[in-house]
Amino acid sequence: MSVWDKLRQLHQARGSQSIKSRFDQDANRFDNYSLSFGDMLFDYSKTALDRDILDGLLNLARHVGVESRRDAMFRGDKINETENRAVLHTALRNLNGGPVLVDGQDVMPGVLHTLERMKKFSTRLRNGTITAANGAPFTDVVNIGIGGSDLGPVMTDIALTPYQDGPKCHFISNIDGADITDTLAGLDPATTLVIVASKTFTTTETMTNATAAKNWLLSVVPAEKISDHLVALSTSEEKTAEFGVKRNRVFGFEDWVGGRYSIWGPIGLSLMLSIGPEDFTEFLLGAEEMDRHFQTAPLAENMPVLLGLIGVWHANLCQYHTRAVLPYDQRLARLPAYLQQLDMESNGKGVSMDGKPLACDSGPIVWGEPGTNGQHAFYQLIHQGTRTIPCEFMIARRGHEPELAYQHNILIANCLAQSEALMRGRDLQRACELMRRQGYTGAELERQAAHRVFTGNRPSTTLMYDLLTPRTLGKIIALYEHRVFVEGVIWGINSFDQWGVELGKRLANRLLPLVCGETTDDPHDGSTLGLLASLNIHC
Ligand code: F6P
Repeated sequence: MSVWDKLRQLHQARGSQSIKSRFDQDANRFDNYSLSFGDMLFDYSKTALDRDILDGLLNLARHVGVESRRDAMFRGDKINETENRAVLHTALRNLNGGPVLVDGQDVMPGVLHTLERMKKFSTRLRNGTITAANGAPFTDVVNIGIGGSDLGPVMTDIALTPYQDGPKCHFISNIDGADITDTLAGLDPATTLVIVASKTFTTTETMTNATAAKNWLLSVVPAEKISDHLVALSTSEEKTAEFGVKRNRVFGFEDWVGGRYSIWGPIGLSLMLSIGPEDFTEFLLGAEEMDRHFQTAPLAENMPVLLGLIGVWHANLCQYHTRAVLPYDQRLARLPAYLQQLDMESNGKGVSMDGKPLACDSGPIVWGEPGTNGQHAFYQLIHQGTRTIPCEFMIARRGHEPELAYQHNILIANCLAQSEALMRGRDLQRACELMRRQGYTGAELERQAAHRVFTGNRPSTTLMYDLLTPRTLGKIIALYEHRVFVEGVIWGINSFDQWGVELGKRLANRLLPLVCGETTDDPHDGSTLGLLASLNIHC
């Protein structure tokens, strides 16, 4: 019997057994199905996993060679086979590790040299040694980028708000003119540094916004001094020079850093400017800790592996098509958006590494919002909707606001209550009692009670950590990166390319002349032509 068949059989066999009943059968279920790593606790006892299922999933991980693929990634093998690239974002945080070879060359001296340059630049800008063209210190930094060149910087900057003690960072990503207009409104170009963050330095949104921002700077900064206000983060030296960025203001990285994995290097410059080099180093050290854990912990005690296996159990065996990421941490407000790119751009694939259509589903839809806000919006569906949505809760043991500790206690209570309610549910009998106490009788009682039934048995995991520090944030992001990796290996896909974003980009370029009122020979469908006709505009 194949490892998959075995798991299918277990899924069928366990069909009617509730998660709650597993706690009745195993008094130590919490201890047996949770894992600690430093201050982090990962509780997966409120899923349907039992020893047999876990063994089956671990066998699957062994069968597909998760460990050897992991080692190949860390070693610098070209595991991104459709782009013929190594995958080495881990090298960017390999502060205490040894050499990492790509094509026989150790990349670490280059990584550490760039990190030192970033630190020096940040320190000097933060202490006012590097100034704006008029000699004043920079007060604001605008990061212009999109996708991984935006989501990482903005998510981490918000997450680490208590550590911000540098210039104020702002972020522009969307080609929609509203984004740049609203972001630049109120900023003074005379004391604003513009960072153009783009791995390729060709992305339409970023380059268009960068040109607009440069023109905005030129409204007060003399043309010969404009480069004082520009920084580029990119793999392309030529294109950054063409844009007018001085060589010593370009922080480069290599093609083995994927866009959605790039916050650890130059793309993290705005974060370093905001929180300072020391806290940025802490952020890297947190990720490095998780890397070592992922590399060395046995599979059964390996947090990213377990998170990945639970994801596979839910996606492929239970056939749950989405998963919700629910941080009870307001400062992780953009984490779900960040994880959407990390997870869905990595694992939203339909063919296996060898080009054959996948025989099973790949990455699920990832979505979420911070608690408690989500509770007052979409949790209704999570509790009583017809679909089961595995939930991934996150909560800090304490907040950064000791004076508001009571509010943090309410936050924790809500987080724990949600996972308990999802698992426990409320049966018809209890709902009827509730209605009886409110004076209902007969058919009306039954009708009212039915609306108050919660089926329960809805799985969730909870990740608990002490406090959202730079180090903890680094660990959380690396945990999710490696989870995506584990799932990708199990599905046999390439988690490191993103061909699915290309076609739309190409068609947008072809449509632009038509939107601007020109005519072309390009064939388009009736709907697109109808929509174009209704624009009735001229650029
Ligand atoms: O279009 C998708 C994508 O390539 C992402 O993978 C990437 O993070 C984003 O665009 C931005 O790319 P760049 O950093 O090259 O501007």
